[in-house]
Amino acid sequence: MPRDPDYFRDKTILITGAGSGIGRATALVFAREGSNVVCADIDPEAAERTANQVIQLGARASFVECDVTVRAEVDAAVEQAVADFGRVDFELNAAGAALARKPFLEITEELWERTYALNVRGTFNGAQAILPHMLEKGGGVIVNIASVAARIGGAGNSVHYASSKGAVHTMTLGIGREFASRGVRCLSISPGLVDTPFHDNTPPEVLQGYAEQMPIGRMAQPEEIAETVLFACSDGASYLTADTIFVTGGLR
Ligand SMILES: NC(=O)c1ccc[n+]([C@@H]2O[C@H](COP(=O)([O-])OP(=O)(O)OC[C@H]3O[C@@H](n4cnc5c(N)ncnc54)[C@H](O)[C@@H]3O)[C@@H](O)[C@H]2O)c1
Repeated sequence: MPRDPDYFRDKTILITGAGSGIGRATALVFAREGSNVVCADIDPEAAERTANQVIQLGARASFVECDVTVRAEVDAAVEQAVADFGRVDFELNAAGAALARKPFLEITEELWERTYALNVRGTFNGAQAILPHMLEKGGGVIVNIASVAARIGGAGNSVHYASSKGAVHTMTLGIGREFASRGVRCLSISPGLVDTPFHDNTPPEVLQGYAEQMPIGRMAQPEEIAETVLFACSDGASYLTADTIFVTGGLR
């Protein structure tokens, strides 16, 4: 929780992947706290829907179509965020996906490249595009969404995805350490199983089986990840950087 109850009021967060799941839930949690929210997503209608929900909660919002794998579009999203609200205090890089589930020997080069382009280069683009602005303004917080999969490895169905999230984790450590003395904190959050459209292609009975294996006995709701993003960005987390926060219901 923030030490100052008004800490988030009138500050601005730029969220990639804001049209759905964890990105959208984070937009609404920051709206509750009075922040301005810039909703970026490859799906502009979804981004606009989230922006409208933020506005319904009484906060200010804008949206931008942005494919995080295309650097020029990420730069344009940052420019728009600064134009809309003057400065960006926080960035959540939530755009990401597993794209397809495949045993290791069936992972094609094309699937590998697309997964890394989205999860790794997309996060790199987001962080590198916002950093000059944060450094100029004297600070900020970048939160990347990694995954507990990075620790488990994705055996049998998603080594491509799990290893890309390992790269997100390591990138977070490097960014966090490189900019720690200049006012920018960088953290990742490593969720377990979260109830979002991310799992739309997984049969419900398989998903239920996964959920029952979680010590807590259920999937996370995206809001439970969003509250951790809020904490990571808050002044209560001022000594926290270059690390990941596991939010897994006890899964190790
Ligand atoms: N759901 C889970 O169980 C889970 C667990 C661990 C980590 N994660 C990670 O959390 C993040 C958010 O996933 P989610 O569960 O909210 O999924 P989601 O599918 O609900 O949301 C992902 C959003 O990203 C957007 N997106 C996809 N490709 C994009 C691109 N190239 N550029 C911009 N936006 C793009 C989608 O349109 C969508 O709105 C992802 O990085 C995912 O890997 C999810």
